[in-house]
Amino acid sequence: MDSLNRAAEELRSTQFPSELLKRCSVKRTRKMWAWTGCFPLLLVAVGLAAGARDGDVRLVGGQRSSEGRVEVFYGGQWGTVCDDGWGIAEAQVVCRQLNFPGALSAVSGGTYGQGSGAIWLDDMECTGDESDLPSCCFKGWGVSDCTHSEDAGVVCDRDTALNNVHVYAVDDGLNLSEKLGRLWDSGIGCDFSIVVQSPNRDPADETFCTHRFILSLDPDFTLVSSLQRSSNLTMLVSSACRPYVSSFLRYLYTRQIGITIASVLCLHQMASEFRVKQLQADSARLYPWLLPEDDTFSSPLSMYDDGIRTGDRVLQEVCLQYLAWNCEALINSTAWSTLSTETLQALLSRSDVIVPDEPFLLNALESWFMASGNETEPSTVAALLNNIRFSMISADTLYDLQFTSDTYKKYTALYDADMVEGYPFHVLSFQKLKTHMDSVDVGYSPRTYTGSPWGYIISATEISNYKQSNFNNPYNGWYNGFSRSFTTPAFNNALFQDKMMTWTVEIYFSAEECARRGYTCNSGLAARLYPSSYVQNYEGIGYNNRVVMVCDTGYIFHVQDFKDNIVYLPANSTTGQAYPCFTDQYSFQFVVRPQYKM
Ligand SMILES: *[C@@H]1O[C@H](CO)[C@@H](O)[C@H](O)[C@H]1NC(C)=O
Ligand SMILES: *[C@@H]1O[C@H](CO)[C@@H](O)[C@H](O)[C@H]1NC(C)=O
Ligand SMILES: *[C@@H]1O[C@H](CO)[C@@H](O)[C@H](O)[C@H]1NC(C)=O
Ligand SMILES: *[C@@H]1O[C@H](CO)[C@@H](O)[C@H](O)[C@H]1NC(C)=O
Ligand SMILES: *[C@@H]1O[C@H](CO)[C@@H](O)[C@H](O)[C@H]1NC(C)=O
Repeated sequence: MDSLNRAAEELRSTQFPSELLKRCSVKRTRKMWAWTGCFPLLLVAVGLAAGARDGDVRLVGGQRSSEGRVEVFYGGQWGTVCDDGWGIAEAQVVCRQLNFPGALSAVSGGTYGQGSGAIWLDDMECTGDESDLPSCCFKGWGVSDCTHSEDAGVVCDRDTALNNVHVYAVDDGLNLSEKLGRLWDSGIGCDFSIVVQSPNRDPADETFCTHRFILSLDPDFTLVSSLQRSSNLTMLVSSACRPYVSSFLRYLYTRQIGITIASVLCLHQMASEFRVKQLQADSARLYPWLLPEDDTFSSPLSMYDDGIRTGDRVLQEVCLQYLAWNCEALINSTAWSTLSTETLQALLSRSDVIVPDEPFLLNALESWFMASGNETEPSTVAALLNNIRFSMISADTLYDLQFTSDTYKKYTALYDADMVEGYPFHVLSFQKLKTHMDSVDVGYSPRTYTGSPWGYIISATEISNYKQSNFNNPYNGWYNGFSRSFTTPAFNNALFQDKMMTWTVEIYFSAEECARRGYTCNSGLAARLYPSSYVQNYEGIGYNNRVVMVCDTGYIFHVQDFKDNIVYLPANSTTGQAYPCFTDQYSFQFVVRPQYKM
């Protein structure tokens, strides 16, 4: 003991490789030690065992290679480990050092036979995460009061041994798709004819020679059942979709296809009809990308009709929401007058319709009536008019309708009934109005009105100017941030028309800007909209404000509600924009939406 103490004292003043110097608390064991801390004892190397390096471990004396007495190589010789402080954490380190995935147990008392020579390690203290045994704390190399009857051992888990070994993937199927495509193109060895036919044989029938085996790979494909029974079959395809049949069939070989705005509808139809599920799902997922590419609106409208026809609710909603958001452009387009009564009805009933104001929508409906001549049944006119939120039209404008609207003159009784429901909203208090209501009538809630006074536009140019003038000087503009103010009445009826309030809108263009204001925005884009003037807290009035994002190519691609005055927005086309704006150049329309709350 004393000589070891002295040796340790000497070593304290010696230079050690830094990895050997570690601070350790000494475990309380049944043996007492005269010093605290763990100090490696540097021994002089005497000879070298072939290949082994200081710190290497091996298992000796077990029946299998995954168990045995633990031996450690140091200073040219193998030695053992004393079982004082030996536990599962220590065993884990040994097993992982030997490339086993873990330890089953720590074994003590010389279970695997007594070793000979040095007892290198004693009072081991591992956390279990060390990469090798000598990285754990211990008294010092060769510092031990044990005998070989206390040699430690381990049983390692070998079931999934070689866990740390890399698996190198070999994938020679990379060009399989291409090869199958060549098989389709060449038709070599084909054994099954598909006759494509359209109504009235227009265009003329066309025959494709295919491979039975390839087509049978997709068990859902509706034509599969006939593959065995016959040598040919007939596929009925609308004439409009005939140009895409070949690429549809080729897809069945390669599982790859290029889809465009022109082909998406037909491919989706064929995939649905012949139950090629993956293509059906994938083409439906493309709708949000493709819809904005057609500014004539004829594709979104026919896709919606297709969704109705096939009962595909996701497709219906994707299309209808796009039409509702882009309602102003739709109304401006020539497609507007061609809308079916059903589509118009579905559109007008939505609260997410975005228009400058409600009279704009009423005008649009009237122009639709005019365009459809005298054919609209009064019951249809009544049903459509019923969707107009007359209370969202100012009393002045309502009053003027009877002199300015031709359709009013024609359907006076229908209009009068609806208009009478609109007036009370403007002249009665909410307390009075709600006496006969269980919940607030949807007709008393605004849609998304981008016109004056409720909408406030911040253009893409304004934003890029702001960014340019502030990027180089972080403590100038960025610190103050992008901020604008505008004014609206406190509520949208005649009683409030001169009770004004001021709103502040702030946009944060980076996660840092958000953080500076105390918000966490992962996408790096957020906006705040809050009343900046003192406002009287009018009972029963709340605000359900929205931000509308307009892509610089001209369509509305994202709409989101403020929650607690803040909204976290998707910053670019890869991150959750409803109809992605690929230019990543857009303007904002902030819309104040006052509402009665029960
Ligand atoms: C796949 O095709 C490309 C070109 O068509 C070729 O360069 C490449 O070697 C092919 N890979 C395999 C694994 O056949
Ligand atoms: C299609 O198959 C049926 C029955 O297998 C056969 O009678 C007919 O001739 C075939 N038609 C063509 C065009 O191969
Ligand atoms: C619709 O037309 C009006 C009048 O021509 C125009 O001011 C407005 O910008 C157009 N809106 C859209 C979304 O195209
Ligand atoms: C609509 O009906 C009126 C009379 O009821 C008639 O004068 C007018 O020509 C009709 N318009 C159309 C487009 O049919
Ligand atoms: C889009 O936003 C995500 C998340 O903020 C970001 O990781 C990605 O790089 C952005 N892509 C582009 C093209 O800016």
